[in-house]
Amino acid sequence: MRNILITGANGQLGRSLRDIYSNMNDALLQIHYTDSDSLDITDLESLDSFINNNKIDLIINCAAYTAVDKAEEDIENCYKVNSIAVSNIAKCAKKYNSSIIHISTDYVFDGKSHIPYKESDSTNPVSVYGKSKLEGEIALIEQDINYIIIRTSWLYSLYGTNFVKTITRLCSERDSLNVVYDQIGTPTYAPDLANAIFTIAKTMFNDSNFLKKGIYNFSNLGVCSWYDFAVAIAQINGFKTKITPVDSNTFVVKAKRPHYSVLDKTKIIDTFKLTIPYWRDSLKNAIKGINSI
Ligand SMILES: NC(=O)c1ccc[n+]([C@@H]2O[C@H](COP(=O)([O-])OP(=O)(O)OC[C@H]3O[C@@H](n4cnc5c(N)ncnc54)[C@H](OP(=O)(O)O)[C@@H]3O)[C@@H](O)[C@H]2O)c1
Repeated sequence: MRNILITGANGQLGRSLRDIYSNMNDALLQIHYTDSDSLDITDLESLDSFINNNKIDLIINCAAYTAVDKAEEDIENCYKVNSIAVSNIAKCAKKYNSSIIHISTDYVFDGKSHIPYKESDSTNPVSVYGKSKLEGEIALIEQDINYIIIRTSWLYSLYGTNFVKTITRLCSERDSLNVVYDQIGTPTYAPDLANAIFTIAKTMFNDSNFLKKGIYNFSNLGVCSWYDFAVAIAQINGFKTKITPVDSNTFVVKAKRPHYSVLDKTKIIDTFKLTIPYWRDSLKNAIKGINSI
């Protein structure tokens, strides 16, 4: 039996991990789902005793401060969750010999590239959120532990608030919409990432001499702008809403975003033998799910 702690289990990724696990039904895994109410990751003492009492073999850290614009003014709280707490998790993991799968972001890059980012490319975050997530990565890497950091992008799911649900709602309310076309990336359907996480977790458990620790990129396959993504959401839903491409200056937001954040997935595909769906195929599945709720 292996004990897995999932933090932030009520967020988009956490809930998608629950869904995937409930379909897997692997009796060899005992999963402990926690969120800010049951286990605040900024509280080192609680973390330490939870990991110790439950003999946690693997921590999947989905907890994060994800309000990118709010973070520009709420800097201390953002760093507390995305950096200091990750450092605490890493220290506990070292103390109790647990492994970690930690989720990070494409926002560690400045977006000046025009070819997909590899894990080894230089980071240069342009927002408080991106800086805090990068500091969390560094805190983890500094500890001599078994870790996997997965950088992902444009996450959406059946849960919480996300771009797919927002555009679906706006299309049902309006005749026209403006969406930015000068930010290019790739959407990630959270259940696809959740599947990848369980594959990686099993590899970590089955390979006693695990030599694959490090940073990995994960998103769906392909490339699009937010505008293309919105048009696809409208088309799949059958909305007739007129969607107009506009540049980022049209909307005043507090945090800067990278103009280009496509992630190169070669390393994760080759290392863990993953098959990753094309973003439009996953979007069709997601919309079916969202419309059936
Ligand atoms: N969403 C995206 O587009 C995106 C893109 C790239 C990377 N990521 C990364 O992917 C991961 C998962 O994102 P997500 O979209 O699933 O996030 P999410 O839906 O915002 O969920 C984050 C969860 O973390 C919990 N949390 C916050 N502070 C906590 C604390 N101190 N202790 C314990 N739990 C705490 C939140 O609980 P409360 O609601 O109770 O605060 C929430 O349930 C994060 O690491 C994020 O940085 C996300």
